[in-house]
Amino acid sequence: MKITFFGQNSFHIEIAGKNIIVDPFISGNELSKDKVDIHSLKADYILVTHAHQDHTLDVESIAKNTGATIVSNFEITNYYEEKGFTVHPMNHGGSWKFDFGKVKYVHAIHTSTFADGTHGGQPGGFVISAEEKNIYIAGDTALTMDMKLIPMQFPLDLAILPIGDNFTMGVDDAVIASDFLDCNRILGCHYDTFGFIKIDHGLAKEKFTMKKKELILLPINGSLEV
Ligand code: NI
Ligand code: MN
Repeated sequence: MKITFFGQNSFHIEIAGKNIIVDPFISGNELSKDKVDIHSLKADYILVTHAHQDHTLDVESIAKNTGATIVSNFEITNYYEEKGFTVHPMNHGGSWKFDFGKVKYVHAIHTSTFADGTHGGQPGGFVISAEEKNIYIAGDTALTMDMKLIPMQFPLDLAILPIGDNFTMGVDDAVIASDFLDCNRILGCHYDTFGFIKIDHGLAKEKFTMKKKELILLPINGSLEV
């Protein structure tokens, strides 16, 4: 699978010829709005971890352009279904076999309210198991003991973790999370977008290197293979 970073927690993941967009927040992101054309993005599915605007701003325009199925928790998919979008509702601990692979919606410690005040249920993350690889997209979360459950079922090839601090885990907690997840290859996200979450890239990478782990920080539109 190929993962491309669009800033904050926004990604394009290509698996088995299917296109998956995660938490699209591009048109409102000063770092990516001039670099990523949301109208040319391909999407068969849009995975939404939680309702906050820095994860959902471009969900509707991408879904309108592509007809993609929106995958999230029950409250979030209800919100989009009422607006006429195609959805696949899930909830915590549940998994489903999609045509590109298996997706499990897992626990996150955070909040989840849409910009218009609608409650977005409990926030979550996703484990994707496809092409004999397993990746974990934590979404916005604190460090949680529940992360230890994930490698019991899914030996991880990559964990996508927030590292910006203030609203989510910071780098120090993400290093502990990588131990809980038994994963040595970390893709950082949810940093630099706003003043509260600006980080020192060199220091962040060094903290993982000291634990013999790799922290990858991709430029906007940068990608990696899993
Ligand atoms: Ni959030
Ligand atoms: Mn966020």
